[in-house]
Amino acid sequence: MAATIRQRYTARSASSASEGRQLCRRTTAAGDAATESSQLLASALGCSPRNWRGVKTARSLACELVYVGIERDQDYTGLNRHPDVIKAVQDAVAKYETGSGTSAMSGGMCELHKRAEKMIAKLLGKEAVMLFPTGYSTNLGVISALAGTGDLIVFDRESHASIIDGIKLSGAKYVSFRHNAVEDLVKKLNRAIGKYDNIFVVVESAYSMSGDLAPLNDIANLKEKFPFFLYVDEAHSFSFYGQHGAGYCQECGVIERVDFLMSTLSKATAAVGGFVACDRRYLALLKWSANAYIFQACFPPADAAAVISSLNILQNDPSIASKLHELNRYMRDKLEEFGFDLRQSQSPVVPVYFTDDEELGRINVKLYSRHIFTVSVLYPAVKRGEGRLRFIVTCNHTIDQINYTVRVLSDLVKKSREKS
Ligand SMILES: Cc1ncc(COP(=O)(O)O)c(C=O)c1O
Repeated sequence: MAATIRQRYTARSASSASEGRQLCRRTTAAGDAATESSQLLASALGCSPRNWRGVKTARSLACELVYVGIERDQDYTGLNRHPDVIKAVQDAVAKYETGSGTSAMSGGMCELHKRAEKMIAKLLGKEAVMLFPTGYSTNLGVISALAGTGDLIVFDRESHASIIDGIKLSGAKYVSFRHNAVEDLVKKLNRAIGKYDNIFVVVESAYSMSGDLAPLNDIANLKEKFPFFLYVDEAHSFSFYGQHGAGYCQECGVIERVDFLMSTLSKATAAVGGFVACDRRYLALLKWSANAYIFQACFPPADAAAVISSLNILQNDPSIASKLHELNRYMRDKLEEFGFDLRQSQSPVVPVYFTDDEELGRINVKLYSRHIFTVSVLYPAVKRGEGRLRFIVTCNHTIDQINYTVRVLSDLVKKSREKS
């Protein structure tokens, strides 16, 4: 890393001041978008936007619908209900009590956190792992600590908000490339070469909104021509792609060329938390400059116990990941049989696209009433006209549930299009 930590801190304060000037404009724009989305949802739910908070939360609806719906959460592996995981959490609470009390830096971690770090490092074949309170704060903390003035971050346009927030906070220059378009990434790198202290390329392995996988081989191969650090977010692939669940980077054979690999622990490993895995030489920089690590309470010991238990189960029972992939394939085949276009999606995130947001909202509500829980993804989360119902397949779903969901969805769409 070319710039020192002190330089980074000074530069960051300067850039936050100029960001502040833009804040009012951006807050207004965000408010407009939120109003637009909530009006749409409220009208679909048959209530006024003023009191639509009174409508049941997605979580409570999900709890009622869990046995019939396709998506409850993103607990891909279904381990949040596994008796071993629940027992490990109960034991951890009995021994270490609830909460963590403080940040990792000031003693919030216990030996369970340390064991989780070691297990993940071994699984990934990386020298070091650092735990963060959530996946969001991992991206926010790590990216903003790594990059600074004089650096450039080149990121995929569909990157998660936590990546984008980390980039903005870093004070580095940034530019996006078209989603999964390696030729556009090459164009951006060609323009940047020789002009920056460090260049970071940031991608996700499996995209959270589109369910497609990144061309990781092609991206990693670019390191032969361009000097950059590769940062990969494996939130939607860690624990169920790759050998023993080491993730999609491992499956693609690029993990050694990934400099920083992060994931949330809130999806497939049945807990809350996040981590970054990297070479040991970067630990000092991260531990002493990632504010999300230094100034935020770490996740509780019970969550570390859930992570350890989940990873043990997944490593000893590859049939869990295989079942997830089989169900995912089955759901995709069924949807395609009924004429749905799933675009490039491949992962257990299965997006069904709608060009009309109102139709999407109406169908989403009708799905609820037929006991199917899914979430509408609308602008500004995705581009206008690319709204989608985002189904997520987990190991706990059954073939009957998938058949039911696809049939109901297909009937609703058919009726809606006949009317219009
Ligand atoms: C790609 C990606 N990265 C990071 C996160 C943040 O993870 P967490 O929910 O643990 O904060 C998410 C959450 O959905 C995600 O989809």
